[in-house]
Amino acid sequence: MLSVAIDGPAGVGKSTVSKLVAKKLGWHCLDTGALYRAIAVACQRAKIDINNIDEVKALLKTIEIDVKFKDGLQHTYLNGEDVTKYLRTEEIDMLASVTSAYKEVRDSIIDLQRNLAKKENLVVEGRDITSNVLKDSKNKFYLDASPEERANRRYKERLARGEEVDYQDILEDLIQRDKNDMTRKIAPLVCTSDSIRIDTTKLTIDQVVDKMLENIKLN
Ligand code: DC
Repeated sequence: MLSVAIDGPAGVGKSTVSKLVAKKLGWHCLDTGALYRAIAVACQRAKIDINNIDEVKALLKTIEIDVKFKDGLQHTYLNGEDVTKYLRTEEIDMLASVTSAYKEVRDSIIDLQRNLAKKENLVVEGRDITSNVLKDSKNKFYLDASPEERANRRYKERLARGEEVDYQDILEDLIQRDKNDMTRKIAPLVCTSDSIRIDTTKLTIDQVVDKMLENIKLN
């Protein structure tokens, strides 16, 4: 099976770009952040102390994460319940950022990710796809943009949704999440030497997608 592996920091537009690339290729797109978020929902519901690894480990024994594609869209399941609509909140942003640093959490969903990529051609986006999950992929990309530009994009997105937002809060949150993702001991976010790095700061979404499509090898 073929894959396109995409990594990059929070707020860089990975999920928008990945979905568009997948659409052009006629493939599904796997957002692996959703799996970490579903585990965070389990932690939130069980009201455990996420800084206590023993509590997180005990919880992991009781949960099962799964993914299904319906009408081309990813649905993420926690113990059989579709939790997709609960994944994108600020609280889950922070819970997932902390719990995804645990080896046990990462190990619990590595086979799921690899098995999905064995079943069909897949665009896969996350933080450790090029460096770990799909190390052998022939198509690896690292999308980047300055923290200020990423915060600005998030700010505009949330304003457009009618949410009350503070630019400075968003920027600080992104910087904290970058730090968590890049400095964790297990599978930190890195730009691997065999990835094509695209600085999206001054590019439109379509320009990023075109650049990727130009470089994707389908044989
Ligand atoms: O991409 P996202 O914001 O939905 O990711 C949610 C969290 O999961 C984020 O803190 C980074 C983490 N993550 C990870 O560690 N590895 C991945 N492959 C995907 C996400």
